[in-house]
Amino acid sequence: MTMTLTSTASAGTTLKASAAEKGRYFGAAVAGQKLSDSAYVTILNREFNSVVAENDMKWDATEPQQGRFNYTGGDRLVAHAQANGQSVRGHALLWYQQQPGWAQNMSGSALRSAMMNHVTQVATHFKGKIHSWDVVNEAFADGNSGARRDSNLQRTGNDWIEAAFRAARAADPGAKLCYNDYNTDGINAKSTGIYNMVRDFKSRGVPIDCVGFQSHLGTSLSGDYQANLQRFADLDVDVQITELDVMGGGNQANIYAGVTRACMNVSRCTGITTWGVRDCDSWRGSDNALLFECSGNKKAAYTSTLNALNAGPGITPSPTTPGPTTPGPTSPPPTSPSPTTPPPTTPPPGGCTASVSLNSWTGGFVASVKVTAGAAGTNGWNVSVTLPGGASVTNTWSATASGSTGTVRFANVNYNGRLGAGQVTEFGFQGTGSGAGMTPTCTAS
Ligand code: G3I
Repeated sequence: MTMTLTSTASAGTTLKASAAEKGRYFGAAVAGQKLSDSAYVTILNREFNSVVAENDMKWDATEPQQGRFNYTGGDRLVAHAQANGQSVRGHALLWYQQQPGWAQNMSGSALRSAMMNHVTQVATHFKGKIHSWDVVNEAFADGNSGARRDSNLQRTGNDWIEAAFRAARAADPGAKLCYNDYNTDGINAKSTGIYNMVRDFKSRGVPIDCVGFQSHLGTSLSGDYQANLQRFADLDVDVQITELDVMGGGNQANIYAGVTRACMNVSRCTGITTWGVRDCDSWRGSDNALLFECSGNKKAAYTSTLNALNAGPGITPSPTTPGPTTPGPTSPPPTSPSPTTPPPTTPPPGGCTASVSLNSWTGGFVASVKVTAGAAGTNGWNVSVTLPGGASVTNTWSATASGSTGTVRFANVNYNGRLGAGQVTEFGFQGTGSGAGMTPTCTAS
């Protein structure tokens, strides 16, 4: 899927108009009871073209007793959105918090099947009405481990997240499926743990379409906030700012603007949601963390956000229906030619050549394959590798594999097929057995 940044000057006068001009949405979290507050609803409908339930679609709200579903709050929000031209984010199918008591008391296979049933039932109920679902929320630990958070969900087996994504895709194939978390506001151990999971999911065809960055922020913004969004986008997922709120005070307007600019500068950043509308609607109590005063007046942070939306480049948004779930790359697109491997001074005459380097251990190996374009360059390439008997490919990145044993054919993916004369790109695969003696052959198109 390709999205391009386009340069369009504009001067929208509301958040939603400015975001829409740039191919994006601007949303707010809505607490159900606020829909009967007319001052609140006036701002919500004037400024926001996306909504998310602050609590009404969570597990404790939607399945208070096992197998008895309550969609009252969620349906009310969806109806409001449909009547007012707003898209809906779904939040959240599985989360270690806000579970109903009955689920908190379950474990093992009983909990696993209750979890999957919950995902299936709720995603089926809202089928066709949700732009993006937070399928799994906050599954990684804070701190330096980069590991999964311990929870009753995690203790059902490490594959619970991918199982949830597959169940959600089966139930509502039209919704984008997101992983959502906080303290991921830069390149750190936690965001890297999530990055590695997403890369692994893409390599194995687990249906994930987007990553949400909650962005509950304090008094400063990490210098690599945008770079972090971009590295996820480079894995071929959309990114979204999903729960933005910022500590009030001197730096608030700058931080809102910085977050908005970062999103605008990343072509796969498709929308921003603030976690509430007015300061007094916020879960953050007296932090004054949002864009509107309790009176409804716009704050300086509103103006800086609007200006950043208007100044940013636009995108052509991808279709709402996610693409097929074919396995994608497990590593970010390589820069071609690789900065560490200068092109040979004399490119091979035509076609392309490939060479392999191996990292082996008893029972397995990782192969890195370097593809070098000949003098005519390539529009695409295929590399064939004959594996020794007993070996098989288990995982491929930056190429698409056909077959897993015997002669395996690796084709370029969309971002690394076109190479100039002498340019180099790399892909890799992991295998079981021995990879010794493989001789790749390259064909260019
Ligand atoms: O509705 C009951 C009410 O009947 C009862 O009298 C009252 C007594 O405590 O509780 C009310 O429920 C509260 C609910 O918000 C609605 O106001 C819950 O106690 C309270 O825990 C709940 O807090 C929500 C919190 O998630 C739960 O952890 C916040 O509103 C909500 O903003 C917050 O949102 C989370 C995101 O889902 C995930 N990311 C972090 C974000 C902020 O914590």
